[in-house]
Amino acid sequence: SSEMLVDSFGRFHNYLRISLTERCNLRCQYCMPAKGVELTPKSELLSPDEIIRIANLFVTSGVDKIRLTGGEPTIRKDIEDICLHLSGLKGLKTLAMTTNGIVLSKKLPKLKECGLNALNISLDTLVPAKFEFMTRRKGHSKVMESIDAAVELGYNPVKVNCVIMRGMNDDEICNFVELTRQKPINVRFIEFMPFDGNVWNVKKLVPYAEMLDKVRQSYKGVERLQDHHTDTAKNFRIDGHVGTISFITSMTEHFCAGCNRLRLLADGNFKVCLFGPSEVSLREPIRAGVNDAGLKEIIGAAVKRKKAKHAGMFDIAKTANRPMIHIGG
Ligand code: GTP
Ligand code: 5AD
Ligand code: SF4
Repeated sequence: SSEMLVDSFGRFHNYLRISLTERCNLRCQYCMPAKGVELTPKSELLSPDEIIRIANLFVTSGVDKIRLTGGEPTIRKDIEDICLHLSGLKGLKTLAMTTNGIVLSKKLPKLKECGLNALNISLDTLVPAKFEFMTRRKGHSKVMESIDAAVELGYNPVKVNCVIMRGMNDDEICNFVELTRQKPINVRFIEFMPFDGNVWNVKKLVPYAEMLDKVRQSYKGVERLQDHHTDTAKNFRIDGHVGTISFITSMTEHFCAGCNRLRLLADGNFKVCLFGPSEVSLREPIRAGVNDAGLKEIIGAAVKRKKAKHAGMFDIAKTANRPMIHIGG
């Protein structure tokens, strides 16, 4: 592994998140601005070859986990091919995907064959009508089917991402916990985060402490598990439950000290932190003919500019970033 992936605080980045598209088949309010987003012209999106070249450079430098995000990664026609190429990179241990599950169930057997070995599925409500309100599209039962399909194919745990917003779905926390009684899934309650165009405000944020209180009021034997120091989630088990629950506390208890993540966006920008406008284009130097050593220099310099932690929720909310649909979480 190389120096390129170590930042000025000594954090080694072994985890690359690749956004494969800016498009999505849902319109979630917390992610996609109501008026939609400007799509990058196709000629300025990375080609599959460019994605593989960059991924290979990271993997030979020490990245052993790649997560595919979007937009919605499953809407790409060449998703299987991309998975096959990425999973074949020597040194890669985990090829993961975060998906909304809408078209996943029928694609999943093939994706698994192509090397996809970890799966996070987003689901924010168990009420179909509310799903339609939150995502501005239908499809609740499709997502439920995909979660079951993933469990049946042996993904363990299937992580279910649930962004909690006050007045929207905070009344469903215990219903989500109930899902973990029989299913080998990990339900992750996520604090609502500000991104461009998602009309974040602190009143809609339900803090981790409050969510955990709610769970403890209804369940006995809620026990904190040891987490890995790079984990975004604080993990808990509950007596008698097959699955587990977690909280992703980006706002009230950030986990930046253990950060091991870097991001490649669909337009070829390289982003060293989820928050903040710290981006550099890799597409432009690639198309100008840069060699791998030159690319490594650009990447390494950006990594060295990474801040110790994000600026705090109120500053984040004020700073220009991107809409979440471009970043992929
Ligand atoms: P694992 O790789 O399974 O640990 O999943 P993950 O939590 O890294 O990724 P996922 O795409 O499932 O995202 C779940 C939530 O965590 C989303 O709300 C993401 O925006 C958030 N998240 C992912 N990576 C980061 C990060 O580096 N910093 C912060 N603050 N939040 C993150
Ligand atoms: N705050 C927290 N999580 C978010 N996600 C999307 N937008 C937000 C937000 N504003 C989640 C999605 C998906 C993951 C990639 O990020 O639900 O599970
Ligand atoms: Fe890493 Fe930035 Fe997320 Fe903090 S906010 S964990 S530094 S990506």
